[in-house]
Amino acid sequence: MAEKLMHAVVCDGYKGGAAALKHVKVPVPAPKKGEVLLKLEATSLNPVDWKIQKGDLRLLCHANSPTYQEINIAYLYFSFLALRLSGIRCEVLIDLIVGRGRRVRGAKRKGAAVGQVPKQESEEILIYERGTDVAGEVVGVGPGVKNLKLGDKVVAMLTHATGGGLAEFATSQESLTVKRPLEVSAADGAGLHVAGLTAHQALTKSAGIKLDGSGQPKNILVTAASGGVGHYAVQLAKLGNAHVTATCGSRNIDLVKSLGADEVLDYKTTEGAALKSPSGRKYDAVSTVQQLTFSKKHLVPLLLIPKGENIEYLVGLLKEGKLKTVVDSKHPLSKAEEAWAKSMDGHATGKIIVEP
Ligand SMILES: NC(=O)c1ccc[n+]([C@@H]2O[C@H](COP(=O)([O-])OP(=O)(O)OC[C@H]3O[C@@H](n4cnc5c(N)ncnc54)[C@H](OP(=O)(O)O)[C@@H]3O)[C@@H](O)[C@H]2O)c1
Repeated sequence: MAEKLMHAVVCDGYKGGAAALKHVKVPVPAPKKGEVLLKLEATSLNPVDWKIQKGDLRLLCHANSPTYQEINIAYLYFSFLALRLSGIRCEVLIDLIVGRGRRVRGAKRKGAAVGQVPKQESEEILIYERGTDVAGEVVGVGPGVKNLKLGDKVVAMLTHATGGGLAEFATSQESLTVKRPLEVSAADGAGLHVAGLTAHQALTKSAGIKLDGSGQPKNILVTAASGGVGHYAVQLAKLGNAHVTATCGSRNIDLVKSLGADEVLDYKTTEGAALKSPSGRKYDAVSTVQQLTFSKKHLVPLLLIPKGENIEYLVGLLKEGKLKTVVDSKHPLSKAEEAWAKSMDGHATGKIIVEP
């Protein structure tokens, strides 16, 4: 029987930006053990998507040799050790780890440009897919899946290793797929994963903030508070009873205040560039535009470790109206290049959404 094909948007090299994205017809993936097949309703983009295409994560990646994994592990181990001993700041650590990513997906898949009639023996093209943060409906269930069934509305985080959110269908692991209540729209839910989980992990694990507000009040600086990570960080920090100083461009000051920031600096002013709290507070934790990092001298690598329970927690906050996703813009899959270019531009207010 002929494979069912779907529309997907893929990268086929480390260059070219939005103009180099390709619209292809590829087979609808089949869910493997522990996976579900989703008919996608929304996918949000993150800077990491185009950073991978730009080649920022390339050195770790190109390795197709069988020993690659061991080299990678050894490399990471010694990086951690050397940096811990030398006291180098964690931004450098992140660059070393993430900035040398492996080729994320180099598998050959059969494909033909959208509009072309796909042939049985169509040319094999080398592609990799991006887009990890998705919302959709379960339309297929792989072996071993226990808690999800056909028809469930969900949000899911696909792995960075496979991507696949810029498509009509994608498979996701059950462990990172969470049911989406009616109150949570597909776009709002799809915004959550990389950005929301990063903010959550940084605030709870690195800064030690208890989001139920039961901990000691802390002073937090959130830069780029109008961006994907920053807008969630401000809201979560306020849930944790923190005093939030935020930076953003002048056009977003009112928005960031409405998210709960106690004081907001325009990053293009001298005061904003100095990142000084107008009320003279000393920060216990700092979230920068490049990556979240925290003071107190100890090294805290910010490498997102996604967990289903944390996605569930954030979805719950959306449902209860305690957290909101600010949507910058929505773009149809047929115009995914526009969304990609907007993300690369670096001036999104909240999350950029692509809809099949
Ligand atoms: N290590 C990790 O696991 C991890 C995870 C997630 C994100 N990140 C990184 O964190 C960074 C932020 O991600 P994001 O998704 O939040 O990006 P984003 O949504 O693209 O950020 C865009 C926003 O940042 C604002 N902005 C840009 N430069 C600024 C500055 N100097 N001061 C204050 N605001 C500024 C822009 O405001 P204007 O339009 O007014 O300029 C815009 O609203 C990216 O570099 C991303 O790769 C790392």
